[in-house]
Amino acid sequence: MNYWTAASGIVDAFVQDEGTSIPLELTIRTLQAVLPTGPLRVVDLGGGDAALAVRLAAAGHEVVAQDIDPHMIALGEQRLATSPSTIRDRVRLICADGATMAADQAGVADLACCHSVLMYEDDPAPLVRTAVALCKPGGLISVIAINPAAAAMRAGLAGRWVEARIALETGDDTHGPYAASRNHARATIKALLVDAGADIVEWSGIGIFTDHHAGPIVADDPEQVLRSEWLAGRQDPYRQVARCYHLIARKS
Ligand SMILES: C[S@@+](CC[C@H](N)C(=O)[O-])C[C@H]1O[C@@H](n2cnc3c(N)ncnc32)[C@H](O)[C@@H]1O
Repeated sequence: MNYWTAASGIVDAFVQDEGTSIPLELTIRTLQAVLPTGPLRVVDLGGGDAALAVRLAAAGHEVVAQDIDPHMIALGEQRLATSPSTIRDRVRLICADGATMAADQAGVADLACCHSVLMYEDDPAPLVRTAVALCKPGGLISVIAINPAAAAMRAGLAGRWVEARIALETGDDTHGPYAASRNHARATIKALLVDAGADIVEWSGIGIFTDHHAGPIVADDPEQVLRSEWLAGRQDPYRQVARCYHLIARKS
């Protein structure tokens, strides 16, 4: 079962939630720090509305963004339509299940991303295996997923106490106002990456101080917010309670 395609209204919820760009900015900073000089060939599995694809294309990379949901592909097309042709020409959108991508593109990518997608699958293995298979030897795999070890943090910091208590008692946060999902432990995804032939290069946390904010974050200098999140995401114990973990692995 795919929890994204099964959830009604999830596209609208995702687009509204996208108001904050903090996770995207942190993701891009992490990638910039580990990527070799481009231009690179990138595949983004579950690329959604192509927000990351457009940013990577703006940096000169060639991006294939693939998504299972035709509504998200349509949003990606809208984003591309308003982008300069230099960016448009470097992005290709494909509507298909990510796990089917390896058949015709195996071993070509310098970077395969799978960001905030694994939680919609009961079994994350096919997508993780695909991400590794898409990369050439030495290529990087970037996986972002919800951190089940911090299940109560978002509700607790937002003051939704019933939800926080249930998350602490049951270990999952599926009782909140969000679509059903399966939050796979970092150790599980790490083991899948290693089994598929990739070594972990680094891991960081995304969304420590700001994840629970529903609206805009007021700050005199937004860079201080990003820098605080970035630094906390690389230190224990902060990264342990981040909303998401970000794993970077290298295909051996
Ligand atoms: C929460 S959005 C994340 C989008 C984007 N990666 C980001 O980080 O902003 C999840 C996306 O994964 C897509 N998705 C879910 N399961 C998928 C699968 N098996 N193959 C491809 N895309 C999938 C959904 O259609 C949706 O666009």
